[in-house]
Amino acid sequence: MVILRNLEPADIEAVHALTSRMDVVRHMLLPLCSREDSEKFLRDSLLESPSDPWRSIVRAIAPIGSPPAPLVGLCGVANLRGAEEGEIWYLVEPESWGKGVATEAAKHLLDFGFGQLGLHRMWATCVPENPASARVLEKVGYERKGSSSETSRSTACGRAAFCTPC
Ligand SMILES: CC(C)(COP(=O)(O)OP(=O)(O)OC[C@H]1O[C@@H](n2cnc3c(N)ncnc32)[C@H](O)[C@@H]1OP(=O)(O)O)[C@@H](O)C(=O)NCCC(=O)NCCS
Repeated sequence: MVILRNLEPADIEAVHALTSRMDVVRHMLLPLCSREDSEKFLRDSLLESPSDPWRSIVRAIAPIGSPPAPLVGLCGVANLRGAEEGEIWYLVEPESWGKGVATEAAKHLLDFGFGQLGLHRMWATCVPENPASARVLEKVGYERKGSSSETSRSTACGRAAFCTPC
């Protein structure tokens, strides 16, 4: 139903349509973006921050089809370069919620992380007010591991932490 593909500069309208919506970003560690913020987000995503210790890989979630349809969501993996673990995230346009898009994207993301990136552990967090995200994680095999204040990433305090079975 959906694939993950590289972002392109031409995705700016679709990216901004997502990152400027409060109902999309409110549970994310992503601010509500102005047009300028969205352009910076896309620029940084295209560069994949090659010189930063943290690597952030962002992919477009797009429907399978020809001609290619505009993206319906974004997802990514962040990890400390050289580390064998990473954090996944995803967001989907509200018009496509409830159709299994995030679940399928998360599966692709796990294949990508464990396969191409060679990660051994991929974790995720979500706030208790976001049961849809928790459900997506459960559906792709994640187990709840407590709160993120017990994990290594202190910026996400208060969020439920999930991890793939080792
Ligand atoms: C969370 C989000 C990605 C889910 O995307 P989606 O494409 O609708 O997800 P899916 O359709 O694959 O699965 C959603 C599941 O949550 C369930 N769900 C939805 N709302 C729910 C609620 N309020 N309580 C419990 N379960 C809920 C759905 O029924 C479905 O489970 P099911 O297949 O067992 O019926 C989407 O709502 C979103 O983009 N939210 C804003 C960004 C965000 O919060 N990202 C996650 C950050 S941690």
